[in-house]
Amino acid sequence: MIKVLFVCLGNICRSPMAEGHFKKLVQDNNLESQIYHDSAGTASYHIGEFPDKRMRETAQKHGIILDHIVRQFNYTDFNKFDYILAMDSSNLNNILHEKEKIANTQAKVYLMRHFDKNKKDSDVPDPYYGDLNDYENVYKILEHSVTNFFEFIRDDSKK
Ligand code: 4NP
Repeated sequence: MIKVLFVCLGNICRSPMAEGHFKKLVQDNNLESQIYHDSAGTASYHIGEFPDKRMRETAQKHGIILDHIVRQFNYTDFNKFDYILAMDSSNLNNILHEKEKIANTQAKVYLMRHFDKNKKDSDVPDPYYGDLNDYENVYKILEHSVTNFFEFIRDDSKK
């Protein structure tokens, strides 16, 4: 079983969208029994909430239902997941800070856009203070990056 965690700040916009697209790819490829996925936020502001309405509407426009419930990232996730994908460099710093609390981990941590061939290792922009165009932009970035990541782990798992 390959276990994948998507992480942003609030866990209401970018990481649930990334997980939602990833879930679709897993289902379309009949890999539900082999790939587990989840998402989390580094902040506690929105624990227990559904994703942001604007992100849900954008996802729905593209045939994806977001039904994740917000939870906060913590250091124990390093022992539960094989891959941890940070949406931006600030999330990455927070994740690596939590890593100092554990002795060792096999988890591989990447920026989400490590898998973006157009703008490698840049941030997935935070859409929270933006408008629906910003949400559509996030969707497009994630559709591309998450698809590339999916293909990467599918190939990696065969080695
Ligand atoms: P996310 O976006 O990290 O993509 O879920 C945000 C959601 C909430 C806040 C900031 C970013 N906030 O400040 O509440």
